Amino acid sequence: MNDNRLAFKLVDQLERPLRDLRISVTDRCNFRCSYCMPRAVFGQNYPYLPRPDILSFEEIARVGQVFSTLGVRKIRLTGGEPLLRKNLEQLISQLSLLPNVETALTTNASLLAKKAYALKEAGLNRLTVSLDALDNATFQLMSDADFDVEDVLQGIEEAHRVGFENIKVNCVIKRGVNDHALEDLTRYFKGTAITVRFIEYMDVGSTNNWHAKEVVPAKEMKETIERMFPLKDGEQSYPGEVAKSYRYEDDSGKVGFITSVTQPFCGDCTRIRLSTDGKLYSCLFATTGFDLRQQLRSGASDQALSTMIIALWQKRSDRYSELRQIASGEKKKIEMSYIGG
Ligand code: GTP
Ligand code: 5AD
Ligand code: SF4
Ligand code: SF4
Repeated sequence: MNDNRLAFKLVDQLERPLRDLRISVTDRCNFRCSYCMPRAVFGQNYPYLPRPDILSFEEIARVGQVFSTLGVRKIRLTGGEPLLRKNLEQLISQLSLLPNVETALTTNASLLAKKAYALKEAGLNRLTVSLDALDNATFQLMSDADFDVEDVLQGIEEAHRVGFENIKVNCVIKRGVNDHALEDLTRYFKGTAITVRFIEYMDVGSTNNWHAKEVVPAKEMKETIERMFPLKDGEQSYPGEVAKSYRYEDDSGKVGFITSVTQPFCGDCTRIRLSTDGKLYSCLFATTGFDLRQQLRSGASDQALSTMIIALWQKRSDRYSELRQIASGEKKKIEMSYIGG
């Protein structure tokens, strides 16, 4: 069964179709970004998922296949740090066989120089690299780990060399910590084929001790960049894209902003998330997920899995970011490293 053969239009309560599946392949990371996995919480004794709880590549590939029949057109692998998952390229090879599905990966790039070629060979379509500063001191302050910014830059270069096009760089700006990365990254990547997207620091999870005062609104970020280089409106790459993009006036590339705090984009959110241990979450800020692993391991047929996913999506009414202002936030939200960003 493919999407065209679905006998009805699959949309949620807010008329949003299902288009993107984000899969977290590991809840571990070799960075400890303060906004995601603060070291004080994710220390030596943090209870990461035990191996048997983690979905196998076969299970993930099967889920991917089922979703592709329901209209999913992009599968993004995330983490934690997805390149920590051994032989990830084997999973990518399997997912690449799905018709009409683009594969993408979000990585901190610490291992990318080593892995880029295998990822390209496996058929990965797109890469996004997280990079929060260009000077090593700030980079290490943000990532709180023993890697150098040079490792990441070499990873990006190698990815470009092996043929990845349209690489994106994600930079989370935390006020008072890496504000100057706005200027540094803009100058560094302007005129290259790489698009930088500056991200508003989000209140995701329950461990990053988020404060609204640490958020730099996209409007302010854009003004900072425009003081250096004038911008004009850019076009949306696809319906439901999270980043709002701009072109440099001199046509030397693009820059984007992800405004989930000041201008939420729930209205056309077509994303569903699969956690490392096989739970499905219909929102990044969900508090409970649907246990797909249990279904996978108790012999459910593809048809039965489809029926469950359809029911889940048809019930969906999430729009957390839009409701954030009125939400009180007392519930324990799931962590980004577990669900994938
Ligand atoms: P492409 O548009 O395919 O390049 O990727 P993307 O922007 O969807 O994915 P990426 O992993 O690069 O995510 C960029 C940032 O947007 C991250 O900080 C994500 O957490 C955030 N983001 C992505 N999807 C959502 C979402 O559904 N809701 C919210 N609130 N934030 C999101
Ligand atoms: N706010 C905004 N972005 C975040 N990311 C991780 N945690 C947060 C947060 N609290 C970003 C990472 C990565 C992407 C998947 O999500 O930097 O680029
Ligand atoms: Fe790791 Fe990415 Fe989270 Fe940083 S943001 S701790 S690199 S998963
Ligand atoms: Fe989608 Fe939830 Fe993010 Fe809104 S907050 S864009 S509904 S994932």
